[in-house]
Amino acid sequence: MTAPRRITIFDTTLRDGEQSPGASMNITEKMEVAQALAGLGVDVIEAGFPIASQGDFEAVRQVAAAIRGGPAICGLARCNEHDIDRAWEALQAAERPRIHVFLATSAIHREFKLRMDKSEIIDRAVAGVRRAAGYCADIEFSPEDAARTEIDFLCQVVEAAIDAGATTINIPDTVGYATPAHLGGVIRTLRQRVPNIDRAVISVHCHNDLGLAVANSLAAIENGAGQVECTINGIGERAGNCSLEEIVMALRTRQDYYGCTTGVVTQRLVPASRLVSSVTGIQVQRNKAIVGRNAFAHEAGIHQDGMLKERSTYEIMRPEDVGLSKTDLVLGKHSGRAALADRAKALGYDLAPEQLQSLFEQFKALADKKKEVYDSDIAALIDDELRDQGELWSIKNYRLAAGTGAVPSVVLSLARGDEVITREVATGDGPFDALFWAIEQITGIEVVCRDFRVHSVSVGKDAQGEVTVEVERQGQIYRGRGVSTDSIEASAKAFLNAINRIAAGSDAAKKVSPYETADATTK
Ligand code: KIV
Ligand code: ZN
Repeated sequence: MTAPRRITIFDTTLRDGEQSPGASMNITEKMEVAQALAGLGVDVIEAGFPIASQGDFEAVRQVAAAIRGGPAICGLARCNEHDIDRAWEALQAAERPRIHVFLATSAIHREFKLRMDKSEIIDRAVAGVRRAAGYCADIEFSPEDAARTEIDFLCQVVEAAIDAGATTINIPDTVGYATPAHLGGVIRTLRQRVPNIDRAVISVHCHNDLGLAVANSLAAIENGAGQVECTINGIGERAGNCSLEEIVMALRTRQDYYGCTTGVVTQRLVPASRLVSSVTGIQVQRNKAIVGRNAFAHEAGIHQDGMLKERSTYEIMRPEDVGLSKTDLVLGKHSGRAALADRAKALGYDLAPEQLQSLFEQFKALADKKKEVYDSDIAALIDDELRDQGELWSIKNYRLAAGTGAVPSVVLSLARGDEVITREVATGDGPFDALFWAIEQITGIEVVCRDFRVHSVSVGKDAQGEVTVEVERQGQIYRGRGVSTDSIEASAKAFLNAINRIAAGSDAAKKVSPYETADATTK
């Protein structure tokens, strides 16, 4: 029997994932996600696009300096000296730095975006890869929009990039246009026709516009790709990227077919998914494969009957293998700190003593209000706590008066450091509107509310409510989330969370998009 082939998992949650509208993360959040990715066992973390903004640069720099003994840390750069130098500046402290250089190659991009002919593209790609290779040994080159690039030209660019020093050749399906047989064929052709292809690892980077990102990535692996680029929860530009949890579990569950393994500790998938969902505010759909709330729920009687007789009748993976605990009903008001610490650990959270102390206090308060505290309650409390860390404004207290026919009024106090500011407002458009208006008045940040949702974290009338809001300011979308047994408080927390993202100068607005600007600008 041949040993399984080890597939490199390249995570781009912090770069391509963060490019999805409204998914911007602050540095503290990025560091948490990076630590979670390292614990998950990914091989490469693409930490950002350093030239895009000061915030991206700083995030890559801090991740590069902090992550030790695990994944390579990667920074993205267009094919010009300025981008590449900046990427290296951010990556210098990494134990295992990787520079990822990209340049579009398809006819559409050549003609309309870059206004460059084929030979200019090859010259530019070679120059970029050479410059990056002067800084470190691990160089990835991506011919952007490869899936729509003429195959003969793609082979020429790939050969030239490898000759110039690229050690990974990534084939992006930038616009999610490929199908499995098509992309599998592209990888097969590269392996057959590019003479120096053995000197590089072939990678794929699939977008999900047709819902085929995971299927396309699997087809590429089947045809010899050794690296797959993916994101937690599949977040990313437009319809997102190949979902990390899905590709990893597909390879694991169907090892009999693919003959491949990864280094991912699959029991950490659900906690990583929760963390990313919490910090970005992007919720995972209920029926999402692997990490969705219903992914392991069996409703139909006939299925439940089969499950009781033999799990494998209707279950191809065990929930505990992806980090879902078997028991859900856990703690009550008599449970102690040790039991809580144990539960948090089982849920995949590694809490510092002071975080545990704060969680314990919140848990006690919750257990006083709620008879039964479920795993999902504990996870929500922890996520809420993580979200609150480092936020500029927090809610001190509020009083709300509303009723049929009455103009709602609110007295709200927000704290910023030691300072507490109170405002009283009365406005005619419902209690939430009054509360949000008071927050805007105090913080001085006005927004347009685009979406507002409430759902329960667990079950029962006393369940905690989780609120997500989406607000718009200066054309940018920001999300916020808040949890409480009091849905008004949860709403205020969610709205304030979004405002805090704006206040933190979330630099999404200042970012250079890798796609809009001409790669041709060079220094
Ligand atoms: O989708 C894409 O082409 C990219 C590249 C920068 C790899 O994200
Ligand atoms: Zn992409």
